[in-house]
Amino acid sequence: MAEIPVEASEVPAQLPKMRVAVLGAGKMGGILLQAFLKENLFSPDKLHGTVNHAEKAIALSTQWGVDVSTDNLKAASHADLILIGVKPFQVPDLIAEIKPALTPAKTIVSFAASVKTRSIEEAAGMEIAVIRAMPNTPSALGAGVAALCRGSYVSDKKMELAQRIFETVGRTVIVDEKHMDAVTGLSASGPAFIYIILESLAEAGVKVGLPRDIATLLAAQTTFGAAKMVLETGYHPALLKDAVTTPAGCTIDGILELEEGGLRVTLIKAVMRATQRAKELAAG
Ligand SMILES: NC(=O)c1ccc[n+]([C@@H]2O[C@H](COP(=O)([O-])OP(=O)(O)OC[C@H]3O[C@@H](n4cnc5c(N)ncnc54)[C@H](OP(=O)(O)O)[C@@H]3O)[C@@H](O)[C@H]2O)c1
Repeated sequence: MAEIPVEASEVPAQLPKMRVAVLGAGKMGGILLQAFLKENLFSPDKLHGTVNHAEKAIALSTQWGVDVSTDNLKAASHADLILIGVKPFQVPDLIAEIKPALTPAKTIVSFAASVKTRSIEEAAGMEIAVIRAMPNTPSALGAGVAALCRGSYVSDKKMELAQRIFETVGRTVIVDEKHMDAVTGLSASGPAFIYIILESLAEAGVKVGLPRDIATLLAAQTTFGAAKMVLETGYHPALLKDAVTTPAGCTIDGILELEEGGLRVTLIKAVMRATQRAKELAAG
């Protein structure tokens, strides 16, 4: 199935009335919860987070101004929408814990890596809407991308709700669940690959005599600008590369070095390996 890019949209009127639980409000859950507050997606008095440690719950509750506790069952009981943000291995126990609070009218959105919608549906033991998402760390700055896939009992309306959730932290695409490991290998692991490229470009700048801070800024803004060109022009990256490459100029010499060093093949293999690892994790 083709990926469908979704642009940010207005907050639908019914969302502030929705009761939401973020079970496992850690790094990614916390990013989402704070984005909901910033964008007024949900009403703060209807938002509830949970974590494992009581003292952390108290601190986060004060910091965010929303109810944060360690009581998953209570949070799930009072929620129409349940987000799952614990570590993948903790998901089965969490679903078992909140099972008495689940009904087919509720919606579960899990962003735990590798955990299949079917395993959550089976653990819930009912025909409940389960949407799986794979976001990435630039979500912290609203520049993330999340791939979403639907379980067996998800209406279009519930899918739109899940898209709207992840639009608070960046872009969304919809894929078939069979592609979620590939998404993990490309866009969830991808920031680490790009940081290495960026760090290497900065190091190269230092090698050719630039101060490190200036080299890092040039490398980062160049990476950002090139990505923005691809996103906003819609042109194929090869066409944009050709536009930079003057005959007998400097860029073509650099490109020859990149090809000799096998940059393309190395990146392709990196994504393939990360995808393979995601499959292994999913298999347990
Ligand atoms: N970070 C990413 O870039 C990223 C990207 C995509 C997907 N994910 C997925 O997001 C999930 C969380 O990752 P993370 O990086 O955000 O990890 P994290 O910061 O460790 O967050 C996990 C949270 O779960 C809480 N928790 C643990 N056991 C719990 C329980 N029984 N009930 C309620 N809360 C509990 C922890 O509480 P305490 O703080 O009190 O220990 C912590 O706040 C993972 O499944 C991961 O695969 C993460």
